Amino acid sequence: MKYLILHGPNLNLLGSREPEVYGSMTLDDINNKLIELGKELGAEIKCVQSSHEGALIDALHNARTWANGVVFNPGGFTHTSVALRDAISAIQIPVVEVHLSNVYAREEFRHKSLISGVCKGKITGFGWSSYALALRALTELS
Ligand code: DQA
Repeated sequence: MKYLILHGPNLNLLGSREPEVYGSMTLDDINNKLIELGKELGAEIKCVQSSHEGALIDALHNARTWANGVVFNPGGFTHTSVALRDAISAIQIPVVEVHLSNVYAREEFRHKSLISGVCKGKITGFGWSSYALALRALTELS
């Protein structure tokens, strides 16, 4: 089984970006933990980050040719991007929306997600464990 872990804009700055909100782990720390978890679960993991909407869309399109599912943190695009929603609808593999922070405990504009309705499910507020829980859920679907 193969899974894409897809990180959106500004998540490359994890570790130094608002650590009181997003924690002190870097993106590499999170990716390494997920690769380890993948080994435990017998799953192959590929991690991609981009701050560009088009590159995230390309990564989703590409995933449909090789991945069994996607764990996706769309960052700020969660709240704005019709194009990412359409890309998720267009591919036939399950996508789980994840957020490090609890978006519902934050500003109101973060309460709206344009992509939740086309995702298999959503996990928000558990720091890096949001990704781990999503990966476990995807492996249990297969
Ligand atoms: C985030 C929440 C978003 O609202 C924000 O724009 C991010 C990170 C999270 O992981 O908590 O960039 O997706």
